[in-house]
Amino acid sequence: MDKITDNIYKFTKNSNNSYLIKSDVNIIIDGVGEEYADEYINDIAKIVSVKDISYIVINHCEMNRMGTLKAMLEKNRDIKVIATTPALKLIDKYLGFGYNNISVKDGMELLGLKFILTPYINWPDSMVTVYNNILFSCDLFSSTILGPDDYYKSYLSQRPQSVLYAVSQIQKYDISCILTGSGMPIKDNVQGFIDNYKKLADTKNSEVLILYHSVYGNTYNMAKEIENVLAVRKISYQIHDIGSGGYKELAQKIDNAKALILGTDTVNADAPSDLWNIIALTNKVTNKFKPCMLFGTYAWSGEGLYFMEHHLKMLRYNVYDKPFGVVMKMDSNEEKELIECTKKFIDSLG
Ligand SMILES: Cc1cc2nc3c(=O)[nH]c(=O)nc-3n(C[C@H](O)[C@H](O)[C@H](O)COP(=O)(O)O)c2cc1C
Repeated sequence: MDKITDNIYKFTKNSNNSYLIKSDVNIIIDGVGEEYADEYINDIAKIVSVKDISYIVINHCEMNRMGTLKAMLEKNRDIKVIATTPALKLIDKYLGFGYNNISVKDGMELLGLKFILTPYINWPDSMVTVYNNILFSCDLFSSTILGPDDYYKSYLSQRPQSVLYAVSQIQKYDISCILTGSGMPIKDNVQGFIDNYKKLADTKNSEVLILYHSVYGNTYNMAKEIENVLAVRKISYQIHDIGSGGYKELAQKIDNAKALILGTDTVNADAPSDLWNIIALTNKVTNKFKPCMLFGTYAWSGEGLYFMEHHLKMLRYNVYDKPFGVVMKMDSNEEKELIECTKKFIDSLG
């Protein structure tokens, strides 16, 4: 347990922080994992009896943040739970018994607390809480042992737009200290910290990525033809063979691309496993609606192309037309058609 200010205490279990605001009305902000409930409740009882806690704010319902709620309510059924409407739905299901609660609306003020809804940080239920100039930020601005950048990449980078929105809402308040859900309090240069954090999420995609798999050069030839169209049009692009980098590195290139032009051959009735492995590591949220054109060669059945088309559509990429598939090697007509198809795809990007 750490004393943060005259009346705020921090309880940490397994890197997750819960806070107690000790006042006329005692308030807990967030909890820790269920498996630490006994230890956690003992620690709190050293400062204030659980019977004297009136409110528990749950900023986010992930089990590492609210796992101790049930044990707390079992000790004191008068506690009122404060959370967003989507959070209360999850809490209802988790608790399985009736309890007192207050549903939070964005900007609502109560007991000197202000609540800011931060949806998709990193679930739809999330909010943060402001008390005086102190922000209880839950997952936002949190750290692993390696720092906030690492935490951001591991847990929040799937939803950069939600992070930017949350930060813009928080910046309406004068914050002099951030008490995170994981990691140490942030007290120095808070504004600079928030500005740096914004930069993590503020990624702009401007390049088209041509990514292809080719063993004997047939699909490669198509990729080069497509590249030529982009070069002539002075489109900013990168072109990579799937064997040219690690899976993670190439997945990141897809994440960072403005549009994807993906080429594959067919190997034993499927797309090559390397391609599946790369797609598995891509960001499934930010790539939704990403424009994508598919091309490739095959000898008789062509599953590689069609399975990729189906999969990318399921992931909600904006897949252009039908895959441009060619048996073995392009002839001169197919070459012309591929050039036309690429031009139309490029035009569709606006
Ligand atoms: C081991 C192996 C398995 C293949 N399996 C299939 C297959 O199941 N269906 C198909 O249509 N083509 C299959 N092919 C043919 C290739 O997809 C085709 O030759 C393609 O043009 C190769 O393109 P690349 O030179 O870009 O690798 C196979 C080729 C190899 C070498």
